[in-house]
Amino acid sequence: VRGALWGGRFADGPSPELEALSRSTHFDWRLTPYDLAGSRAHARALHRAGLLDDEALAVLLGGLDALGERYAAGDLHPDPSDEDVHGALERLLLEEVGPEVGGRLRAGRSRNDQIATLFKVFLRDHVRVVSSQLLDLVDVLVAQADAHLGDRPTVMPGRTHLQHAQPVLLSHHLLAHAWPLLRDVDRLADWDRRVAGDSPYGSGALAGSSLGLDPEAVAAELGFTGSSANSIDGTAARDFVAELAYVTAQVGVDLSRLAEEVILWATREFAFVTLHDSWSTGSSIMPQKKNPDIAELARGKAGRLIGNLTGLMATLKALPLAYNRDLQEDKEPVFDSVDTLEVLLPAMSGMVATLVFDRDRLAELAPEGFSLATDVAEWLVREGVAFRVAHELAGACVRRCEELGVGLADLSEEQLAAVSPLLTPGVRDVLTVEGSVSSRSGRGGTAAVRVREQLAEVGTRAAAL
Ligand code: ARG
Repeated sequence: VRGALWGGRFADGPSPELEALSRSTHFDWRLTPYDLAGSRAHARALHRAGLLDDEALAVLLGGLDALGERYAAGDLHPDPSDEDVHGALERLLLEEVGPEVGGRLRAGRSRNDQIATLFKVFLRDHVRVVSSQLLDLVDVLVAQADAHLGDRPTVMPGRTHLQHAQPVLLSHHLLAHAWPLLRDVDRLADWDRRVAGDSPYGSGALAGSSLGLDPEAVAAELGFTGSSANSIDGTAARDFVAELAYVTAQVGVDLSRLAEEVILWATREFAFVTLHDSWSTGSSIMPQKKNPDIAELARGKAGRLIGNLTGLMATLKALPLAYNRDLQEDKEPVFDSVDTLEVLLPAMSGMVATLVFDRDRLAELAPEGFSLATDVAEWLVREGVAFRVAHELAGACVRRCEELGVGLADLSEEQLAAVSPLLTPGVRDVLTVEGSVSSRSGRGGTAAVRVREQLAEVGTRAAAL
């Protein structure tokens, strides 16, 4: 009966309702080139095992190549009656090379080991793209950081709790967004190394193959470094999908934290940054509007990436071994995750590359909110005062400033001495943003010397990934 891959034991064909539910070609058809590559490797394995003669191998490889060419030309399509990409390609191969030779290829493999393998190869390709796009964004952050590290590095108000905390260099802050992205690239490389070692082809439906095939050779042909040690694990495991969904969700979260800052910085209230016209949008009704849509979409898409991870974990939870059809639900979420990042990352890079920071505004706000109070306390510590006392005295200076309605640097020598005789005129030397920033020169600090080293360190790390 009908049902291309499994008609034999059925007296009746599948109901249209079942077909509609079961069909996956609308999302798995893009796996075609990967399925064909797997089929070529499998055909060679059958040939080496003596199950295909030279001529049959040549015919099969020719047929698979022909399908590949038709696909590349946009000329190969699944039928509504095809259940999935594997079934459709078998049907098309039979049409291409005839049922006798075409019908030999399915020996010793199952859609279960097939899908697990080619899904990995597909994702490895996309991970390479996403990694390189992430490194492009790191480059853009590094270029902005570099541009603001000249003779007079750009200072800005550093914040905790979104409140003014201590002045920092803008370059230091921008690089703080580069490091998480570098770790994400590292996570992807780590994911790839693990996935590369585990090609499921040869696992069959779940129990392995009796036909003397060589899974290691198939693995090597498909770019893997090894094949599955356990055929049940090979066909049932999807932690590689979940792990990638996590890393892509983490990228989304990292991008959305940067995006949220750009959105805030571009407000009239902050006015730290101007977005380039080509990387912002207008309003259909309010003529004056210039909106940070790229950043907002980044923030929004982070939710979608997290949702993809959450949905996948829910699908996988408590699934018994080995393959279950539930696993067909593993593709759309992670396809969506890589597709989302592949359009989002270039847009983010363009937006960040063209941000124009208002140096004067940033410098003017840097000492606001008594952000040099810690410098007063640390100056006292260097003078031999216990930090507990120093903290109290610096706090008393802030209180005095609030009474007088002035900033810390505006306190006269007399006013300082009135707070405490320990506050001798020397303390005024640290009451500048430049002095504060350059004093934070320990490793990882915001002093320009350290940030220049950091810039080089980011470059070295990025080059090593
Ligand atoms: N299309 C399926 C999937 O994506 C693979 C087919 C396995 N089907 C089966 N009945 N064993 O998981």
